[in-house]
Amino acid sequence: MQKVKSKYQFLVNGEWSDGTSNKWVDIFSPETNEVVGSVPAMTQEEVDKAVRLAKEAQQTWADTAVHERSNLLYKWADKLEERKQEIGEMIANEVGKSPSSAIGEVVRTAEIIRYTAEEGVRIHGELMKGDSFPGGSKNKLALIQKEPLGVVLAISPFNYPVNLAAAKIAPALIAGNTVVFKPATQGAISGLLMIQALVDAGLPKSVVNVVTGRGSEIGDFVVTHSLIDMISFTGGTKTGQDIAQKAKMIPLVLELGGKDPALVLEDADIEQAAAQIIGGAFSYSGQRCTAIKKVFVLDSVADDLVSKLTEKVTQLKVGKASEEATVVPLINERAADFVEGLISDAKEKGAKIVTGGDRTGNFIEPTLIDNVTPNMDIAWEEQFGPALPIIRVSSVFEAIELEKKSEFGLQASIFTKNTQDAFTIASKLNVGTVQLNGKPERGPDHFPFLGVKNSGLGVQGIGRSIESMMRDKVMVINL
Ligand code: NAP
Ligand code: G3H
Repeated sequence: MQKVKSKYQFLVNGEWSDGTSNKWVDIFSPETNEVVGSVPAMTQEEVDKAVRLAKEAQQTWADTAVHERSNLLYKWADKLEERKQEIGEMIANEVGKSPSSAIGEVVRTAEIIRYTAEEGVRIHGELMKGDSFPGGSKNKLALIQKEPLGVVLAISPFNYPVNLAAAKIAPALIAGNTVVFKPATQGAISGLLMIQALVDAGLPKSVVNVVTGRGSEIGDFVVTHSLIDMISFTGGTKTGQDIAQKAKMIPLVLELGGKDPALVLEDADIEQAAAQIIGGAFSYSGQRCTAIKKVFVLDSVADDLVSKLTEKVTQLKVGKASEEATVVPLINERAADFVEGLISDAKEKGAKIVTGGDRTGNFIEPTLIDNVTPNMDIAWEEQFGPALPIIRVSSVFEAIELEKKSEFGLQASIFTKNTQDAFTIASKLNVGTVQLNGKPERGPDHFPFLGVKNSGLGVQGIGRSIESMMRDKVMVINL
């Protein structure tokens, strides 16, 4: 890849290019507001070429032995790890994450790629005998092979620009698909550096093509392109819903927004619950799909919980991501406007701001909001920022009934010492994952990861992601 005065190029057909639009999208550091670099705003013709060439390359890639595809992934993982410092620094600059967590993201990504390389070689299909169905015949055998879908469009969000991109690209590749990768604009340079490592590992031409430019400009074109065979998208619920409405009749995996609740019961270890809730709600300023975004607490332990949460919030390191702070400026001013609006709405409607509440530029103080009630927007909307609403409830039943009304269903945490109660409550929560006495999180990355309701469609997690990018091909042998 050529980098001229912080201009980074896109990749199509094994060639890095500035493109022909002569238009560049500047990427601003959330911390300094300085331009980190620019990526080309690709034209529709260029995006079209990226998709067509990925389609042309797909059969040859599918015919490549699985162990060779796996070897490419192992090499990619090694190259990424060799460059963890460089790529980590770029992630930190582009999306305002602390250097240690950005480098950690690169290492975690290498581990995901290696696990995918290992998992993918063990996919062997299935054999079914005809006589297990009433009236079926022993003379019929079904050979069920697993085939790739074709060209996978991978669209990733800003908050994990390397991890959540590779978690789509690696399974697509091991399954024999080619990929058109559209990184989030904020995070695009990190995505391009990650792909540079893949090119250096020996990526054949057009097995992955990268398209850059704003989603609002090239998104509809690429999503509705007739040669795209599957879309794997991670991002906001509204964007995901738009994509689902526009995409043709192709498989979709959507990882969308969340409003993960923590339910704190009367017998919970309040100290442990408070520590988990603070970590879950405030790391990277709450800009994680799996951040704890509301707390339901039983009245009898609410004062104790709020006091422990308050103590812990005041101990959080606040300030610059580059100085390893936990609560850092948000990705942009628009995100801060949104969080500020939710805090003001809660305040106006009678909630109590226990700590924080102020804003400077795109920085929002870590904010605890007590006595939040269902008429307040922050009880329902995904804040994606460092403001945590506490909803006091008189019974577990009340918490469950409120949770049922949420449009989201990613994860939920239950804090209790009574495992029996935890299972009963978990069975009533309409979410992808319930965590017992721990904060919501995606990892370990081989666990299934999914959202229900407006939090998503389909399942990720290494094995499930590979499956989602393959289809059955059945051959019936009539003996
Ligand atoms: P976003 O604004 O929805 O953007 C996500 C991606 O979609 C970006 O690459 C964006 O490109 C692209 N895009 C925008 N408009 C598009 C269109 N019309 N067609 C196709 N693509 C389009 O989300 P974000 O702000 O980056 O990420 C934050 C959200 O993601 C939060 O809601 C969070 O909960 C969710 N998230 C969910 C998970 C999960 O696993 N469930 C994980 C991480 C994040 P541009 O950047 O160029 O606009
Ligand atoms: O933002 C969504 C990520 O998938 C969350 O991953 O739970 O490891 O922070 P995490």
